Amino acid sequence: MSKSEFASVHYSKYLQLDKILNAQDLRSVEVGKPAHDEMLFIIVHQAYELWFKQLGHELESVMDMYRDLDMDEKEVFVAVNRLKRCVEIMKLLVDQVRIIETLTPLDFLDFRNYLLPASGFQSFQFRKFEVMLGLKVAKRTTYANKDYRGPFTKEQYEELTNLENSDSLLQQVEQWLERIPFLEFKEFDFLSDYKKSIDHMYEEEEKAIKSTNIDEKHKKFRLEMLKANQSYFDHVLDESKHNEAVENGKSKISYKATLGALLINLYREEPILQLPYQLLATLVEIDELLTSWRQRHVQMVMKTIGMKMGTGGSSGHSYLKKTADSHGIFSDLSNMATLMIPRSELPKLPDDLKKELGFYFTNIN
Ligand code: HEM
Repeated sequence: MSKSEFASVHYSKYLQLDKILNAQDLRSVEVGKPAHDEMLFIIVHQAYELWFKQLGHELESVMDMYRDLDMDEKEVFVAVNRLKRCVEIMKLLVDQVRIIETLTPLDFLDFRNYLLPASGFQSFQFRKFEVMLGLKVAKRTTYANKDYRGPFTKEQYEELTNLENSDSLLQQVEQWLERIPFLEFKEFDFLSDYKKSIDHMYEEEEKAIKSTNIDEKHKKFRLEMLKANQSYFDHVLDESKHNEAVENGKSKISYKATLGALLINLYREEPILQLPYQLLATLVEIDELLTSWRQRHVQMVMKTIGMKMGTGGSSGHSYLKKTADSHGIFSDLSNMATLMIPRSELPKLPDDLKKELGFYFTNIN
């Protein structure tokens, strides 16, 4: 008899609760010195791993969509929704640090030694998530020059290596941005019009600083800052300077992709660009939340073990702090804020381009 699609299923069986709820074996109980708080320690980690699994599931599906160069633009809607789901999960993961923070240093010491050498270093799902987003081995902060893939099985090692060697979400988004049309449209040349606007914006700011009644020393200081800010535009918008920045690791995405991201950010209100803008903003949020998690984890580590070394053998607090400061992925997209100019300075789009960027029923007048 074949199984009916609609046969009734029991709640516990469907969720395999017999497996999940019997998967908390306390090491302290095993060694005959039960520690009350070890249950919390295990359950919090298991909850994290379940959510990492969901994050991986969402990310894999989004990356499958972007792998296809002929991706149907309608799929961007699905991708944005799934990434927004990741954002909500990650907010929960940041908040969940509060629960493990109720574990005091003394209570942790009741069972900490029984865990050696287990460590978050061995979380395969966390490493996969980082690599899929775009953290490459060359950019990693490591401790004692150890390979981050070291703690894993041969199969897991290979899986991480293959992921490293294939396109990450960052690279996929970079390629997608490079395909954004409208940078040049008939007589409209986005870059040259944008550069004129920047020059005008800086001339106005310079005039404003010069005409204020602050003392000469502070005026000079402000004018120098303004110049430094202006040079950031060159670094991003001059193709050869940008390529240099990519080579020395200051920028992660190409010149063309940067211009695409800039156009989307500046004209985000145009109907066709609303969804691409949401995609970029969601990626920035994911990056921010991953950094927030790293920062909350490192604060919690300080409270729980102070400056002691980690069970995985790293320096603990100082290693984790470095990762929080240096493992950002979508920094080029967050830096777009520096390149924004007031709406009043925005190059005006020609009517036929505005029509292309609008919905069928948009009235351009
Ligand atoms: C009492 C609670 C915790 C302490 C004291 C702690 C401590 C540490 C330390 C010292 C490290 C550095 C590696 C090492 O030398 O072991 C580390 C890494 C890590 N921990 Fe925790 N941790 C705690 C809870 C958690 C929780 C609840 C998670 C959630 C999954 C987690 C995930 C990680 C991950 C993913 C890493 C690797 C981070 C990286 O290399 O960038 N930790 N932890």
